[in-house]
This record gives sequence, C-alpha cells and structure tokens, in this order.
Amino acid sequence: MKYPGAYTPDLSQRDPHPLLNKLFVQRWSPRSFVKTNISPEDLASVLDAARWAPSAYNEQPWRILTSTSETFATFLELLAEPNQKWAHNASVIGFMIAKKNFTFNAKPNPWAIFDCGSAWMSLTLQARKLGLYTHGMAGIKKEAIHDAFHIDRQEFEVVAGFVIGLLGEREHLEKPYIDWESPSLRKALPEIWKQGVWTK
Ligand SMILES: Cc1cc2nc3c(=O)[nH]c(=O)nc-3n(C[C@H](O)[C@H](O)[C@H](O)COP(=O)(O)O)c2cc1C
Repeated sequence: MKYPGAYTPDLSQRDPHPLLNKLFVQRWSPRSFVKTNISPEDLASVLDAARWAPSAYNEQPWRILTSTSETFATFLELLAEPNQKWAHNASVIGFMIAKKNFTFNAKPNPWAIFDCGSAWMSLTLQARKLGLYTHGMAGIKKEAIHDAFHIDRQEFEVVAGFVIGLLGEREHLEKPYIDWESPSLRKALPEIWKQGVWTK
C-alpha cells in the first residue's frame, strides 16, 4: 500500500457480507491525520475516480475544488471551526460543488447533489485503495466559499467539504474527537433494504 498510515485500524466490530469487497469496510472517516505530501499523480487518480461516476443525463454536475500547499490555510479557514480543529493535519481540503442546472436545457437538475455524492464516494474509494482516507464535512462556510472563490450562486451550489489525508495516531486527537476515532457500525441490512414490499 502506497500510503500505509500510522496504524491498522481494528475493523472487527464491522459485520460486512462475506462477499463484500474489503474496500467498503476499510473506508471510514478518521479525524487524526499525519501531514504528508500526496504525489500529484496519486492525487490526480483520486480526482479521476470522481470523473467516472454516473450522473443523470450524464451531466457530470460535480465540480471539485481542492487546496494546494500554498492555499491550504485559506481552505482551512473556510471550514466550520470544530472541523478546523482536526482537519489541519490533512493533506488536501476539497469542496464538492454542484452545477445546478442542466447544460442541455438550462432547467434545474434535481439530481445534481445526488450525483455529487456518487462522485465523492468514487474518489473516496480510490483514495482508500492508495491507503489514504477522506472525511466528508457538512460543517463548512458555504457563503464564504462562494465569496472567496467568486463561485456564481446562480449557477453553482457548494454542497460539502472533505479532506484527504494519511491516517494518524488516535492518541494525537483531543477530546471529544479522540472518543469518536474508530470505525463506526451500521444498521442491519434488512433495516435499509426492502424487497418487494415496503416495511418500516
Ligand atoms: C455529507 C457528509 C457530511 C459530514 N459532515 C461532517 C462534519 O461536518 N464533521 C465531521 O466531523 N464529520 C462529518 N461527516 C462524517 C460522518 O459523521 C461519518 O461519515 C459518519 O459518522 C459515518 O462514519 P464513517 O464515515 O466513519 O463510516 C460527514 C459525512 C458526510 C458524508
């Protein structure tokens, strides 16, 4: 693995289907990162994964703005303060931005945000394949992001933020983040999967 991280997380509490690809279970959202340089090639492969996501009418409404080493501090400022507390050791900060209207008819695209989610999960899994982790963030300063980068509000919506980074030691986090630093569990499959009939 290219980016091995500080330790191998204990995934034994997770209960995936035996046939599930390991990558899905190995993905979780840490907050402890060790500053590292991701090579431009590796980063490009992560972003390219987003490019191959499916989208309504193949609109590809996602736009992804990522920090460079020179702009990292500016991007960090654009996160909600609680997220700044742990995101500062990540390698890259990014924002998922949706093009709100279809290009072919200029009408609102109700699936733009859904498609951005697909693109983000794609890049997340490519990051994991390299050994890196992502962490999604709702806690971002959307209006300030529009202003800082002159992102047209008519045409685009800032959907969410994320970081990409190398896993750091859990012990390097402060409270309350240290208490949350472990792979989370999931609802049982029948709770989310209804076959043929709807049940609550
Ligand atoms: C759209 C989205 C927004 C999120 N916002 C935040 C956030 O602002 N701060 C944070 O610490 N975690 C945030 N998370 C991380 C979730 O809490 C995390 O994905 C969830 O608890 C499931 O855990 P796992 O990703 O480790 O499996 C966000 C995740 C997503 C997908």
